[in-house]
Amino acid sequence: MSPSQAGLPAPHPEERSAPTAAGALVDTHGRVATDLRVSLTDRCNLRCSYCMPAEGLDWLPGEEVLTDDEVVRLIRIGVEDLGIREVRFTGGEPLLRRGLPGIVAATKALRPSPEVSLTTNALGLERTADALAAAGLDRVNVSLDTARPDTFATITRRGRFEDVVAGMAAAQEAGLRPVKVNAVLLRGVNDDQAAELLAWCLERDYALRFIEQMPLDAQHDWHRGEMVTAEEILAQLESAYTLTPAVEPRGSAPAELFVVDGGPATVGVIGSVTRPFCGDCDRVRLTADGQVRNCLFAREESDLRASLRGGASDAEIAERWRAAMWVKRPGHGIDDPTFLQPARPMSAIGG
Ligand code: GTP
Ligand code: 5AD
Ligand code: SF4
Repeated sequence: MSPSQAGLPAPHPEERSAPTAAGALVDTHGRVATDLRVSLTDRCNLRCSYCMPAEGLDWLPGEEVLTDDEVVRLIRIGVEDLGIREVRFTGGEPLLRRGLPGIVAATKALRPSPEVSLTTNALGLERTADALAAAGLDRVNVSLDTARPDTFATITRRGRFEDVVAGMAAAQEAGLRPVKVNAVLLRGVNDDQAAELLAWCLERDYALRFIEQMPLDAQHDWHRGEMVTAEEILAQLESAYTLTPAVEPRGSAPAELFVVDGGPATVGVIGSVTRPFCGDCDRVRLTADGQVRNCLFAREESDLRASLRGGASDAEIAERWRAAMWVKRPGHGIDDPTFLQPARPMSAIGG
């Protein structure tokens, strides 16, 4: 079935040749998606100011969220029929999903067994790290924007810094390595703390990456001019450390890596806005309510939950998924005058 038969917009006439790699999630720009990012809930127990308002959001109603079995079925189709080789669980906060260890175990048991990781705020990880490692989780990325408890409370609107620190240590201890840290710098809040946070991470053997803030906040407060850029972050770090570009090929990774003071430690910069990496993107996203998004910034979604609940076969679901990927745009277009922020905020897409 072609994309248009699947009820999706037909590709541009020059791009109409059928996907070539048998079964894979290819697009008209030649990219192949092998990294599936699965949001397990849109809820979160923090309220990071760059993500959501203090009062939270209208969460998805329970019946709209995929069940554990539905999530696992879609991941199985991704792995067995569509060439998915890495699965990343995200949220909101994925540790809030009760069935997480079971979903991880079922994912890891697929063949070929994918790499399975988690992007989390680490609240509750102290309690769950061992069980997740036993279920087959390979590693975790933790969102932490500061090494100061007071700045943490300002950014997240919750005073839970110590719980996060304990969760990270437990992950390290449980072998969920490398523990990567994602940090967003906010103007006037923690924009002078880059080198300090790097020192804190180096001491603990965590792999830190700074992320340029993207226009994905629920409140639509993002302003290009206020964003702390990759260039500015690197200048700050270079006032305290010697950075040299890492030699390993970056591939499809969002982070550009730099060796710190001769190594072996590295620090990463994810310049999503000023240094976009869309041309090498290998990611596809599944939301907690079963919508495939071919890009963080996609404005269209493909409703796999309707297919699942309507009795579609694996082959039909795979075909719908392929059709959704085929029309992936070449880039996010944040700098285009026509750019429109997607309706779904980051917390409901999963980062
Ligand atoms: P690993 O390095 O393999 O752990 O993956 P990762 O860096 O993709 O993981 P993570 O979930 O920690 O994401 C880090 C940051 O990169 C988040 O802020 C993401 O939103 C951002 N990011 C991940 N994928 C994309 C993408 O496709 N496009 C853009 N613009 N940003 C992305
Ligand atoms: N821009 C960039 N990164 C963001 N994150 C959350 N919101 C944004 C945003 N607007 C980060 C979180 C988390 C990851 C999934 O995305 O810090 O680590
Ligand atoms: Fe929660 Fe992550 Fe959003 Fe912070 S950035 S409020 S941890 S979903």
